[in-house]
Amino acid sequence: MKILLLGPPGGGKGTQAKLLVKKFNIPQISTGDILREHVKKETNLGLKAKEFMQNGELVPDNLILNMMEKRLKKNDCSRGYILDGFPRTTPQAEGLEKLLIKLNQNLDKVIVLEVDDKDIINRMSGRRVHMESGRVYHVKFNPPKNEGVDDLTNEKLVIRKDDRPETVERRLKIYHKTTKPLIDYYKSKNIVSYVNGNNKIEEIHKRIREIVS
Ligand code: AP5
Repeated sequence: MKILLLGPPGGGKGTQAKLLVKKFNIPQISTGDILREHVKKETNLGLKAKEFMQNGELVPDNLILNMMEKRLKKNDCSRGYILDGFPRTTPQAEGLEKLLIKLNQNLDKVIVLEVDDKDIINRMSGRRVHMESGRVYHVKFNPPKNEGVDDLTNEKLVIRKDDRPETVERRLKIYHKTTKPLIDYYKSKNIVSYVNGNNKIEEIHKRIREIVS
């Protein structure tokens, strides 16, 4: 099963992807997480991507497409995967389509998480992340078992650098202008389903499970 989660920054894509990983035992492929790992390791790609990410801008399409071609060719993708944060532009969607043809695969479902901008800005201020694993928490809506530390490792949770309100606003603008039009791109393929992302995390998960099963 190949699922694409599409939605605004902070819309809950990562949170839902992690629940789907547990349920279906297929990998979450988050371009944001992969890029953050490159930035941390100071690879060539990481050095190129760092400034774009900190400013809430998109990393250039050619870098993303090269990175994703390598990722989707890995063995763990053979049973399916959950795309989280990719594609985000029309050239990326077109690049993905070409890649899927090469791999003899196709997307089964595109799930659009709908959340209002004002709720996103509120949510982002409370997000805490475990950088190593990409596990995501919220101080109010999805708190860790012990304040400030990851449930599994007990390591410290941090606030992402691009979660400052002015950066979130820029990311939202880019989402509306560049990423949201992809919904129409996939509508023509008849694989789009909408989910109300303002509901509780578990309710959204249940709805997505209904859609994909
Ligand atoms: P990326 O990491 O992909 O960021 P994003 O798409 O902006 O999405 P987020 O990770 O911020 O949010 P999310 O939708 O996963 O929400 P989450 O589950 O965490 O990308 C970061 C940067 O990398 C980009 O800005 C860009 O520079 C670059 N990049 C990445 N991919 C790229 C690409 N393809 N092309 C070019 N550049 C790229 O939830 C948010 C918070 O809300 C959490 O605290 C969570 O606990 C809480 N929450 C979740 N669901 C609910 C709910 N239902 N109710 C209440 N709270 C909830």
